[in-house]
Amino acid sequence: MEIKAIGCEPLQLKRMHVKDGHTLKVYQETGGYKSLKKAVGMSQDDIINEVKASSLRGRGGAGFPTGMKWSFVPRQSPKPKYVVCNADESEPGSFKDRYLLERDPHAVIEGMIIAGFALGASTGYIYFRGEYNYLIHIVDAALEEARAAGILGDNILGSGFSMNIHTHTGAGAYICGEETALLSSLEGFRGHPRMKPPFPAVEGLYASPTVVNNVETFTSVPQIIEMGGTVWRDLGTEKSGGTKLWSISGHVKRPGVYELPMGYSDMEKFIMEDCGGMLRDDKKLKAVIPGGSSVYIMNADQILGKNVTLDYEGLVEAGSMLGTGGMMVMDETVDIMESTKNLTEFYRHESCGWCTPCREGTDWLVKVFNRIADGGGRPEDAQLLLDICDNIEGKSFCPLGDAAAWPIQSAIKRFPEDFKKWINKF
Ligand SMILES: Cc1cc2nc3c(=O)[nH]c(=O)nc-3n(C[C@H](O)[C@H](O)[C@H](O)COP(=O)(O)O)c2cc1C
Repeated sequence: MEIKAIGCEPLQLKRMHVKDGHTLKVYQETGGYKSLKKAVGMSQDDIINEVKASSLRGRGGAGFPTGMKWSFVPRQSPKPKYVVCNADESEPGSFKDRYLLERDPHAVIEGMIIAGFALGASTGYIYFRGEYNYLIHIVDAALEEARAAGILGDNILGSGFSMNIHTHTGAGAYICGEETALLSSLEGFRGHPRMKPPFPAVEGLYASPTVVNNVETFTSVPQIIEMGGTVWRDLGTEKSGGTKLWSISGHVKRPGVYELPMGYSDMEKFIMEDCGGMLRDDKKLKAVIPGGSSVYIMNADQILGKNVTLDYEGLVEAGSMLGTGGMMVMDETVDIMESTKNLTEFYRHESCGWCTPCREGTDWLVKVFNRIADGGGRPEDAQLLLDICDNIEGKSFCPLGDAAAWPIQSAIKRFPEDFKKWINKF
């Protein structure tokens, strides 16, 4: 398991290999909480403008511009405002946030306090996926240290601003990473998504203005305040600012968490050289899912010799999406019908059942996949799968339905032989 930066100084990964980097002492010795000190001397508008200038796009998957999201929160509100950190990290292929929480929890906390100050929110929550229960005591200890040092709680660093942050754990449901389902769960209800609009920035937790951001989004904020929005942006590209963490798994020689500048060129070099040189057992590249399971699968022809840049725009141009940066690499031994079946079983299991297209559709998809795998495949089955996807995509209540459809649509289009082979096999 490799954890390192390539093509940039480690920013997100700055404390990954520093002994006791999770403690307040070492965090402060390595520059931590200087940004908070600077931020409480700035105006709220200036902080939001720096975040806007940074071109930081949310790292939880959708890539929504963070500064713009923050500016949607009403300045004046009769209700309290909230800052929520999405630490649900359940996207298959994504495992970056856990390292930030485990080894650099104060960076998450610092980002949240700066957000709270900029937005006028005095309460924050960190929502962990159920399986990350083992990380909670680390973050709770960091919160306690921050409170004892006057960094959190009443009158933070003597600024007159007060804020507290609490941890909360889900029970292991993928849907609770979707921000409105997360808020329902945080309120103690079943984790069902809610209708948008109203968006959480206007009506979120307890029907109050709420900003929900990913762990990596929050850890980017102190860096932006420290170096200034445009300097941070220029580490990456104009539209995709800064650096980004990639979780890379599958058949590379050295899987792990890598930090790359946005716009890193190119994807082939990253997979075939930076992650250990060629693939494991020197097999050929067959497929890559670049952004966590909820994006289009790519075939080798879309990557090799194509100079695909690793940023939001580059991956869209190449026929997929950046998502969470959870890159899954598959060599020639992988059967794409089987890998897609496996993913579809995940989405069926995780469909919350709230809306009919997703609940029924994912179930039908798995039924067809099982029939194909059991030898009962019919020539029209690829089209049948596409028709079912068509009845889910854009028709489900939340994007989980789209996320179930996209891998199948792209797999059938880009790996037709792997489906034909099964149907003609028996
Ligand atoms: C089914 C589903 C699961 C999601 N899971 C996560 C997650 O585990 N972590 C996360 O940060 N965002 C997740 N998201 C995205 C959130 O809804 C939301 O866009 C994000 O937390 C906003 O933060 P950001 O702007 O910093 O990315 C998920 C979305 C969907 C539809």
